[in-house]
Amino acid sequence: MHDLKNKTAIVTGAARGIGLEIARTLAEYGVSVVATDVDEEKLTKSVQDINTGQPSSSVVSRHLDVTCEESWQKLIGFVDQEIGDLNILVNNAGIMKSQPFMSMSIEDFRNAYTINVEGAAIGIRTAFEVMNRSAEKSNGYGSIVNISSIYGVVGGNLNAAYCASKGALTLLTKALAVEFGHGGAKLRVNSVHPGGVDTELGRGGMSAFVETGAAPNVEAVESMIEMSTPLGRMGRTDDIAGVVAFLGSDLSKFITGAEFVVDGGFTAA
Ligand SMILES: NC(=O)c1ccc[n+]([C@@H]2O[C@H](COP(=O)([O-])OP(=O)(O)OC[C@H]3O[C@@H](n4cnc5c(N)ncnc54)[C@H](O)[C@@H]3O)[C@@H](O)[C@H]2O)c1
Repeated sequence: MHDLKNKTAIVTGAARGIGLEIARTLAEYGVSVVATDVDEEKLTKSVQDINTGQPSSSVVSRHLDVTCEESWQKLIGFVDQEIGDLNILVNNAGIMKSQPFMSMSIEDFRNAYTINVEGAAIGIRTAFEVMNRSAEKSNGYGSIVNISSIYGVVGGNLNAAYCASKGALTLLTKALAVEFGHGGAKLRVNSVHPGGVDTELGRGGMSAFVETGAAPNVEAVESMIEMSTPLGRMGRTDDIAGVVAFLGSDLSKFITGAEFVVDGGFTAA
């Protein structure tokens, strides 16, 4: 895709699911990717698979716990010293623990916020300087892509903590797009909002409907999603990764503070 070749990206939560597909897709388009995750063992294997499957790809793996400032500083220090530039930051790492609001612990509520919102906020603050410097050098803009959810736009059953956190991430995105833009920083900030995608997180969400008696089995939840989706199927990881590649590229050079809903029309109905 348009001019992605000379760019460098960090992807968080890249050991599996959507993050892994984003790392793979960016690498396919020629981006040098630093794939990160708290699950180092799985990440190492996933990155090996990408590099074996696409011999021309340049993906390295690095441990990162997005909630830990020191972990971010170590990662950005590595990028700064060993790679030099950083053009794309994809804040994808996230958790979803679907459960009824009244039986949820406050610790679970805070956990969703800590990982889904603070994780991205710490990442952006730590990466700001090197991204801005890289953008000025290339006479363009760095791109920050926050992976929110349709549940950062509309409410979802059994997902109060997740919705609250993803809604916060949506507005963190807009607030930073405004502040960075007006402040003269060379950074665009956008959010992507997947609908149900078939990953471990997505499957966990569907199981919660069965566990709480809201649906007889996972197949029933799946067919309910399919029937309510104008394009007739659940999302796939590559549906999301393509949009992230577009936002990382200069094809989207005049887009900041925008929400990209990628749900086959689920929330349009
Ligand atoms: N799958 C869906 O249906 C769906 C829908 C909407 C939004 N999303 C969002 O997309 C993103 C990716 O979801 P997924 O479905 O691929 O999930 P997933 O559970 O398959 O993968 C999430 C990855 O994040 C990592 N992670 C968790 N906590 C971390 C931390 N503190 N530091 C670093 N890494 C950490 C995990 O180890 C895992 O590899 C999440 O932000 C999720 O909220 C997913």
